[in-house]
Amino acid sequence: MMEIITSIEEMKTWSRRIRDEGKVIGLTPTMGCLHEGHLSLIKASITECDSTVVSIFVNPAQFGPDEDLESYPRTLEADKEILRSTGVDVLFLPAKEDLYPDGFKSFVEIEGKTNYLCGKSRPGFFRGVATIVLKLFNIVNPRTAFFGEKDWQQLEVIRTLVRDLNLDIKIAGQPIVRESDGLAMSSRNRYLSEEGRLSALSLSQALKTAQSRIEQGERSTEIIRNEIRQMIEQKNGTEVDYISVCDPEDFSESEQIRSRTLIALAVRIGKARLIDNRIIERA
Ligand code: PAF
Repeated sequence: MMEIITSIEEMKTWSRRIRDEGKVIGLTPTMGCLHEGHLSLIKASITECDSTVVSIFVNPAQFGPDEDLESYPRTLEADKEILRSTGVDVLFLPAKEDLYPDGFKSFVEIEGKTNYLCGKSRPGFFRGVATIVLKLFNIVNPRTAFFGEKDWQQLEVIRTLVRDLNLDIKIAGQPIVRESDGLAMSSRNRYLSEEGRLSALSLSQALKTAQSRIEQGERSTEIIRNEIRQMIEQKNGTEVDYISVCDPEDFSESEQIRSRTLIALAVRIGKARLIDNRIIERA
């Protein structure tokens, strides 16, 4: 039976009891609107841990003033069904007033890494993410927390948070889950029109082509970036936010492709801002 816990104190008490029983807790933080990408994280938690907690909270602190906080898809009843049938132990559903009460003043800043990619185009985003993730860690007290590699920079930011603040939590990154045609799963795919959905395929296709070009010997990051841009911009309604060919850990760019490279991109298509990435290991 899945328990639904809404109170922070109750969540802490549950977690203390489970840990006192010597059990390992796994946490998957989400903003709901669950899809197969989330399920791969949750299933990994169920396999690796004794008890699995999934949190659903659309975190206002990580949305900019002109972003989609109000319209972010909320599908709570369907999410509950999915979580029940997957075998989750606890759904943690905290209230905004409890997480951010009046007078809330403490935020977590991760320096350096957050100046690039999504951090550059969404100022304050990672401050909001790091703050809520640290709060959830403190409340749920998991041994392992599961995050998707689609949000590669977020994963790196959270690894940095855990390392720098000496948290005793293992961060487990899980591979991107894609639709059969290659589109990376995302709650924001719901915003795509039929035509937008077709244009969106250019993201994963361009990443795949870039990988082949590097494997065939192309070494210029500028050429790779330009080729990706061309492939995407030739599709209707696409507006590139960024394309970065960079170091997978600190996101610095160089002229030449390094032995291990992250290609990350963000593209707006209508109301949707989609991200995707690929790690390329040079032979
Ligand atoms: O990746 C997400 O869904 C969110 O950024 C997270 C990690 C749940 C924090 O709100």
